[in-house]
Amino acid sequence: MGRFDEVYDRSLSDPEGFWTEAAEAIHWEKKWDKLLDKSNPPFYRWFSGAECNTCYNAVDRHVEEGRADQAALIYDSPITGSKKTFTYRQLRDEVAKCAGVLKKHGVGKGDRVIVYMPMIPEAAISMLACARLGAVHSVVFGGFAANELATRIDDCEPKVILSASCGIEPGRVIAYKPLLDEAQEIASCKVDACVILQREQQTCELISGHDHDWSAEMAAAQPADCVTVAATDPLYILYTSGTTGQPKGVVRDNGGHMVALKWSMKNIYNVAPGDVYWAASDVGWVVGHSYIVYAPLLNGNTTILFEGKPVGTPDAGQFWRVIAEHGVSVLFTAPTAFRAIKKEDPKAELMGQYEMSKLHTLFLAGERTDPDTLHWAKDNLRVPVIDHWWQTETGWPIGSNCMGIEQLPIKPGSPTRAVPGYDVRTLDPETGDVVPSGELGAICIKLPMPPSCFPTLWNASDRYREAYMEKFPGYYQTGDAGYLDEDGYIFVMTRTDDIINVAGHRLSTGAMEEVLSDHPDVAECAVIGVADQLKGQVPLGFLVLSAGVNRGHDEIVGEVVKLVRERIGPVAAFKTATVIDRLPKTRSGKILRGTMQKIADSETYKMPATIDDPAILDEIEAALKDIGYAGG
Ligand code: COA
Ligand code: AMP
Repeated sequence: MGRFDEVYDRSLSDPEGFWTEAAEAIHWEKKWDKLLDKSNPPFYRWFSGAECNTCYNAVDRHVEEGRADQAALIYDSPITGSKKTFTYRQLRDEVAKCAGVLKKHGVGKGDRVIVYMPMIPEAAISMLACARLGAVHSVVFGGFAANELATRIDDCEPKVILSASCGIEPGRVIAYKPLLDEAQEIASCKVDACVILQREQQTCELISGHDHDWSAEMAAAQPADCVTVAATDPLYILYTSGTTGQPKGVVRDNGGHMVALKWSMKNIYNVAPGDVYWAASDVGWVVGHSYIVYAPLLNGNTTILFEGKPVGTPDAGQFWRVIAEHGVSVLFTAPTAFRAIKKEDPKAELMGQYEMSKLHTLFLAGERTDPDTLHWAKDNLRVPVIDHWWQTETGWPIGSNCMGIEQLPIKPGSPTRAVPGYDVRTLDPETGDVVPSGELGAICIKLPMPPSCFPTLWNASDRYREAYMEKFPGYYQTGDAGYLDEDGYIFVMTRTDDIINVAGHRLSTGAMEEVLSDHPDVAECAVIGVADQLKGQVPLGFLVLSAGVNRGHDEIVGEVVKLVRERIGPVAAFKTATVIDRLPKTRSGKILRGTMQKIADSETYKMPATIDDPAILDEIEAALKDIGYAGG
């Protein structure tokens, strides 16, 4: 039996021993009464009765244990031409001051704080400051529109919002303040105070008595100490796309999260304390939470916070520059970033300008790594390229090659095997039985899931049960479908719901349909995800207009595109829609989105037996050809 098999088998046969050992790497104020409280399934609680503080473990502890002068966080921003390094001591001092600012505004244990910031060090400082006080942060990605921010304000009811005057995208400055103000107008929950960092690229007007200047507040702040919380208390809420316009508030606890993340750094990513680790993502996504902020800091690494893009800021060599300049040993990003680089610099000529000998592994996630990208990255970087699979709900990888345990053979298209702690099975969607290897099924995880996996949804425990735990009793339904091969390798093939993956960003087509239906001329609509060479998938809309509407179709399409951008945000990348006479449906009235997607992507499809009117598919194909899909 190989080393990986030994570790994996033990994680399932002796979870008590396995996670007790892993938990020794964390500083606890008080140890747990129960390693895993199973008294109220499917709501499992890890490290129940234990007390701890995540910020202490991520920051203060390293200052006390000899890493005070080591770089904790390097901010590298080619888009603004700035760089700044924070040692662990400096990071602790900034975080303690920021916690002091929050405390002054009445934030304490259990209170929520929204962080709406671009990729600047203050975003990480804000998150850690909340953790320090036992407050619960909810970071909102900068590419979302005011309406999405408002939904989150109403759901988590924050006391304070921490924000910045602007974000910077290639070629344009995004003023945050108007979005922030609009969101607060729309929301019914009224926020007591906003603390806003004025960036030199574009400042904003502050509303006296409500908005406060970050720098002035920090200068006057009384540093605040770490507050002890229960291991089972929430550390953060991160909203992710669900099947409706109402996003799901994924809750992360303190104790289990720390244990799993710390374990993953050595065992999955194979990095040692002191190494430089870079997750090129955004703090607004789960990858940013786990692998820009918490995991590398818990492990005493130097983390890179990169404000830029893989291409265009200013060139396709920036990733290599950052790796060379800061001595990065592990890079973690989404395949789409590599596709963007490959498109600009197919022969990777810019790579030759940089010395990247410290880089030992590239990890990719967010979407399946297509074999082309895998080979291009491997041939040019000459390091192992590891596809790994995970979700906002779990907060750390479900399937990966665990490079710190034993590298298993790579099978292109697979994120390798289930990570220790996860019992992954593929189930028959009709019967719920485990399907034989090689057969497609719903990918599920047997309960209880390992530490860090979400214990519930914020204010929505019924939805937690209904959306994830009910269809297959005793299992968590990942929403992904695929198969396990005879060696236990996982192949994630598709989603079973309406989620699409656009440039590694998780979006709901249902939420886009809700927006389109609000257009006064639209009677019916459908949104599907179609293949895109760069972004993996992009949304495509079909509109059926109300009777009597005889305005130009281009005009209406332009309006709905604008509407999605305004309501959901530019990150939805909703740019194409077409007007059709009717939608293909089953006899019971279900829209045949899967068939439409196959036609758009020129895939073979079987005529659905329950289709109401088969002739309609020819109309769909013709409409798609007109806009460049379906082989057109
Ligand atoms: N604030 C405001 N707007 C944002 C934004 C932010 N934080 N992030 C993205 N946007 C905007 C973009 O400017 C773009 O607007 P446009 O329609 O006016 O061009 C739109 O949202 C779509 O952005 P994006 O999906 O990033 O596409 P892109 O064409 O700008 O860049 C890539 C393509 C591949 C370079 C880019 O998606 C990328 O770097 N991806 C990395 C993947 C990643 O970080 N995934 C996270 C999970 S690991
Ligand atoms: P998110 O919650 O935003 O991290 O998105 C999670 C979803 O992204 C998963 O349910 C998958 O559909 C998809 N995903 C993430 N990583 C991978 C991967 N390595 N292979 C295939 N799909 C992936």
